[in-house]
Amino acid sequence: MKIHDFQAAKMAQRKISMITCYDSTFAKIVDKTSIDCILVGDSVSMVVHGHPDTTNATLPMMVMHTAAVARSTKKFIIADLPFLSYRKSLSETMDAVEQLMQAGAQAVKLEGANSNAATITHIVESGIPVMGHLGLTPQSIHLLGGHKIQGRQPSQGEVLLEQAHALQEAGCFAIVLECIPAALAKVITESLSIPTIGIGAGPSTDGQVLVWHDLLGFDPKFKPKFLKHFADGYSLVHTALEDYHHQVQALEYPVLEQHSY
Ligand code: KIV
Repeated sequence: MKIHDFQAAKMAQRKISMITCYDSTFAKIVDKTSIDCILVGDSVSMVVHGHPDTTNATLPMMVMHTAAVARSTKKFIIADLPFLSYRKSLSETMDAVEQLMQAGAQAVKLEGANSNAATITHIVESGIPVMGHLGLTPQSIHLLGGHKIQGRQPSQGEVLLEQAHALQEAGCFAIVLECIPAALAKVITESLSIPTIGIGAGPSTDGQVLVWHDLLGFDPKFKPKFLKHFADGYSLVHTALEDYHHQVQALEYPVLEQHSY
């Protein structure tokens, strides 16, 4: 997928599939699939680095994971601008964008609207595609008071619709809609000319995104309503590790002729 294919997909009503990815081994697997594009999300700070939320993602962290993914795939890569990296000054914002692009991203993503509009326009006019992110914006978790559905009240829905249009006007090529009612996501999607990519936003968005570890079921206890585990990754890994341990104990592995030099 290239940048213009996002718009083309919306026009053709062909859904866009996006998956997060953070390392080289898994990027090689994504590369061999039909998945449209990769998000090197700041969720890496949670699912890989064990932090409670995404406010611990740093620019060096995002650059390192973006570079690891970029070395191993030709898929279109969007990299998250981490917490506050686009809120201090335009100069620092552009430095962060430069580092992510030089690490191998083809686009950057940032959260929120309103006061980000001028920044987005500047990044886009500098030749870099920007993906927006509205609804549950995890970098604002402390202001939102937790991982909660956004836009349930009609007045909040109107604000989100306005924000989506502000992002489109500012030059975003697509917008992630996270954890908002499906009906609202449908209204926003139908009123925009750029594609929306949903997570917990129902089936009417122009595409879907899921976090790698969530899609593959590595945490059986993490099962919010929107999430489908497409594999039982936890059992797969757990069983393999137990098998290895028991075979070592039972002298079944390694076998002299088969696994030795
Ligand atoms: O960081 C991330 O994984 C994301 C997705 C949840 C959209 O931003």
